[in-house]
Amino acid sequence: MIEIKNVSKTFNQRTGGTFTAIDNVSLSIKKGEFLSLLGPSGCGKSTLLNLVAGLEHAQQGTITVNGKPCNTPGPDRVVVFQEHALFPWLTVLDNVAFGLKQKGIPKKQREEMALEQIKSVHLSRFADRYPHELSGGMKQRAAIARALAMDPEILLMDEPFAALDEQTRLILHKELEEIWMRTKKTILFITHNIREAVILSDRVLVMSTRPGTIKKEFNVQAARPRDSADPVLRHTENSIMDVLADELEKVVKEEMGDEYSLKKDSLSNRSSDSMGSGI
Ligand SMILES: Nc1ncnc2c1ncn2[C@@H]1O[C@H](COP(=O)(O)OP(=O)(O)OP(=O)(O)O)[C@@H](O)[C@H]1O
Ligand SMILES: [Mg+2]
Repeated sequence: MIEIKNVSKTFNQRTGGTFTAIDNVSLSIKKGEFLSLLGPSGCGKSTLLNLVAGLEHAQQGTITVNGKPCNTPGPDRVVVFQEHALFPWLTVLDNVAFGLKQKGIPKKQREEMALEQIKSVHLSRFADRYPHELSGGMKQRAAIARALAMDPEILLMDEPFAALDEQTRLILHKELEEIWMRTKKTILFITHNIREAVILSDRVLVMSTRPGTIKKEFNVQAARPRDSADPVLRHTENSIMDVLADELEKVVKEEMGDEYSLKKDSLSNRSSDSMGSGI
């Protein structure tokens, strides 16, 4: 469904010269697939997602969705960001109905459609609240409801749960899994959290940095709904941790000098810990 072929993206640097954020990346994403991108900070995950969203343009290569180039944002692709996604001056209902209003759907009908999505993320009791009256988890659920209300074929999620505490995150994992199983949307998901990637995805791609390329691909062949105690998940997490640890070692050496080494043993064994923020 999504075909990324030999895509490279460079940015002009303020100090002069160019910087290659993505280098010759090729990737196919099947209809209905849940695919996650993991990788060190700055490896080009958001750049890749923004290219698929049509928010950025590649200098080389092509990106198509259902065979059509995606040079501009389109109703078939909706992005869910980490935060600041809701309009603070609108209630949850009006936020979720916003895109439907833009589409010209009459008030009664769009409110019904919005309420249905609000119900699907279990926020019915909070439909009349403003964003500042919601918890972080509720805000993200409202943002997901808003994306679903547009009924896109593809959800592009850039660290949607990164700002949430661990318990809220676990609840949101269950909700997103349930939404995905029900709607069979195609999801491109970015995270720094290995456990999150493994629990949610059919496939996890680990990216390497400078320039950003795809280093390794993991298929997660555990039954759904996923059980966090499933040994298949644990095993996949450990394999991903090994590949990421090598990548982080490379980044650390580049940033701190060759004499610096990141001992693998010193990395947390809890892959639920995020490995992002500054690395
Ligand atoms: N508009 C821009 N102008 C210049 N450089 C940019 C721009 N956007 C991104 N970059 C650079 O491209 C590289 C990739 O950035 P990107 O945001 O895609 O990384 P990321 O993997 O999403 O990182 P993080 O995990 O921190 O969100 C980074 O080195 C970044 O500094
Ligand atoms: Mg990013």
